[in-house]
Amino acid sequence: MDERALRTLLESMSLAEKVGQLIQFSGEFYGATDISVGPQHKLGVTKEMVGLSGSVLNVAGAKATRKLQDWYMAQHPHHIPLLFMSDIIYGYRTVYPVPLGIGASWDPELVETAYANTADEAQAGGSHVSFAPMVDLVRDARWGRVLESPGEDPFLNTQMAKAMVRGFQHDLAHQRGIASCVKHFAAYGAVEGGREYNGAQMAPATLFQDYLPAYKGAVEAGAKMMMTSLSTLNGVPGTADTWLLQTILRERWGFDGVIISDYASIYELVQHGFAKDAQDASFKALTAGVDIDMKSPCYANELAPLLENGRLDETKIDQAVWRVLQLKNTLGLFEDPYRGASEAAEAATLLSADKRQVARQLSRESLVLLKNYNQVLPLTPHSDQKVALVGPYAARDSLLGMWAVHGHKADTVTLAQGVAQYSDHLSVGQATDIVRDAEMFKGMGATDAMLSQVIQSDAAEEAAVADTLAKAQAADVIVFVAGEHTLQSGEAGSRGHLRLPDNQRQLLKQLRQLGKPVVLVVISGRPLVLTDVVDDVDAIVQAWFPGSEGGNAIADVLFGAYNPSGRLSMTFPADEGQLPIYYNHPSTGRPEGVSQHSSRFTARYIDIPSEPLFAFGAGLSYGKVDYTAPVVDVSELRPDQPATVTVTLHNGGELPVTETVQCYLHQAVASIVQPVKRLVDFKRVTLEPGASQTVTFTIQAEQCAFYGNDGQLRLESSPIQLYVGHDSTTKAHVALTLKVKE
Ligand code: GLC
Repeated sequence: MDERALRTLLESMSLAEKVGQLIQFSGEFYGATDISVGPQHKLGVTKEMVGLSGSVLNVAGAKATRKLQDWYMAQHPHHIPLLFMSDIIYGYRTVYPVPLGIGASWDPELVETAYANTADEAQAGGSHVSFAPMVDLVRDARWGRVLESPGEDPFLNTQMAKAMVRGFQHDLAHQRGIASCVKHFAAYGAVEGGREYNGAQMAPATLFQDYLPAYKGAVEAGAKMMMTSLSTLNGVPGTADTWLLQTILRERWGFDGVIISDYASIYELVQHGFAKDAQDASFKALTAGVDIDMKSPCYANELAPLLENGRLDETKIDQAVWRVLQLKNTLGLFEDPYRGASEAAEAATLLSADKRQVARQLSRESLVLLKNYNQVLPLTPHSDQKVALVGPYAARDSLLGMWAVHGHKADTVTLAQGVAQYSDHLSVGQATDIVRDAEMFKGMGATDAMLSQVIQSDAAEEAAVADTLAKAQAADVIVFVAGEHTLQSGEAGSRGHLRLPDNQRQLLKQLRQLGKPVVLVVISGRPLVLTDVVDDVDAIVQAWFPGSEGGNAIADVLFGAYNPSGRLSMTFPADEGQLPIYYNHPSTGRPEGVSQHSSRFTARYIDIPSEPLFAFGAGLSYGKVDYTAPVVDVSELRPDQPATVTVTLHNGGELPVTETVQCYLHQAVASIVQPVKRLVDFKRVTLEPGASQTVTFTIQAEQCAFYGNDGQLRLESSPIQLYVGHDSTTKAHVALTLKVKE
């Protein structure tokens, strides 16, 4: 529709119709062709308002969306199409690794392909908008939603955010792809104590330097929507933060898309103590810039009264409605309200072989080899080697993670299925449950009937463990697949203890006593604390929730069909007491090990280590890649003179290897203390056995700019070091001077 016609449409709409475009309910509100009278009574909205609501949450599938679209448009006064929005975070029917694993691939190009595939599947199923990517920077593994984030580094998160948005919106001009709604604006990942829905406090310099860049990158990549955070930032709820939504997002970054609240977060302004009632909450959210109210009664019931009592100007409503209509127009809904969704399209695209192959490759690249003592890995395919695959995830299909809303466990390749393609002498024993904690499951609302599904009887457990130990005894190598339950991570999955569950550690101790090599494969949505098991195993593969092709990908790595290349996207703590822990931290005035003060009086704990168990950027491969010392071409880095740093890699192993060369900056002196290191660039290179390759990074002076507490960038002369190496612990660096006109 051309803009003039769209404007005419807006001008012809009644107030109720306009308000309708600003509200979003979930699928159950439209359960039948006629609106069910059930759930909205909980929200207290009228049938009329539901019939006018402009978008719907989590209705997907060609059949369901076409049916609802037909009903909705027929009864709407101006037949305006409904917008279908959904949580499509890391795949649709083909499910990829959770984003924390995707971040560990360090492969934005493949990620873009995966998200374009996801968009094609979702579009065939009638989804128009995905509530993704989630790019909240994360530094505290106690928070369950670290699963959804690409990780702890601003630069890596930004590259991933851009790749995901480009993938989702890969060809909107030709109606291919879906709109991306980035979330959660802003800094939800900094909730205090890693406790879900808690508040976040931070200096403006930290916000601008670390937490905002990935949202900004997503906006630069053209994201069509932004979702506000449920949490508060420095005492202001994201859903009513005029400074964030207007000054930063719209004015400074030029974002002209649609802003949607998170689930009921407008109404929750009252609970936060930021609004006195629903009407006050509605006024504050709309004037702050929130266009759509997701799943709360506020806009539906309070915008009209706000107009009537003169507190709200109708132009505010018109501006919000205009952005929603523009989004529908951009998506071509006025021409094709289904956007090509059909059961035939679904059959042609969902879980196609090519999409499964991309999922398998991304899952392979997300796996991180953390330990490989005595080169126990890779195992030998189709040999006489007897492999015992044991543990609660050995044959389970629950590898998709908590936010795989549209994935089917039945589509998942289990680890037992994957390994069976390589091992001719395979035995499988699940032994114990994932976690035998009835109180935890009851705390999540599990009934006794549900409990019996997740926790086997003591007798069954005893028999299963005995059977597994017998199989392990007869094997040459044990692969122990353990980790956390899906429900222990993701939203509302905050945890204070991050070790493997007691029942799993007990089984590991029994396995260890058999005197065989033990390979630990960890299934989790977060960094777990592996300190008390790291010495009990010979190898560790961090597998995250690896997605639909997880079993194949893990087996490919275990048997050397893929040389592991993953690098940690988030630091693995040695102890929960270290949290939050992240590599790009400031030096402090008394850094441990170098301060002139006695060891006691330095930045350390007296009862736990200061260093993490595994560092950001860490990950092993089969074989060895050697680096020459970095060299730099200039001694001064100036705005008119970049610096080029060069290293040469050599693959001394027998397998092709993909190495992610990382370049970090340290600025020695600045008006805001700078981190000991921060990632400024990286390059993935693949080397054939015996091959060498030179890798160069060209660093511009502006990459050294940092934010002050005034939210402005600063560039200050200083000695700097540029580190180039395998991970964030590298000591290899060149020293030069950053010279700017003062
Ligand atoms: C949830 C999440 C958000 C999600 C939304 C819709 O509470 O915070 O990430 O997109 O509700 O399901």
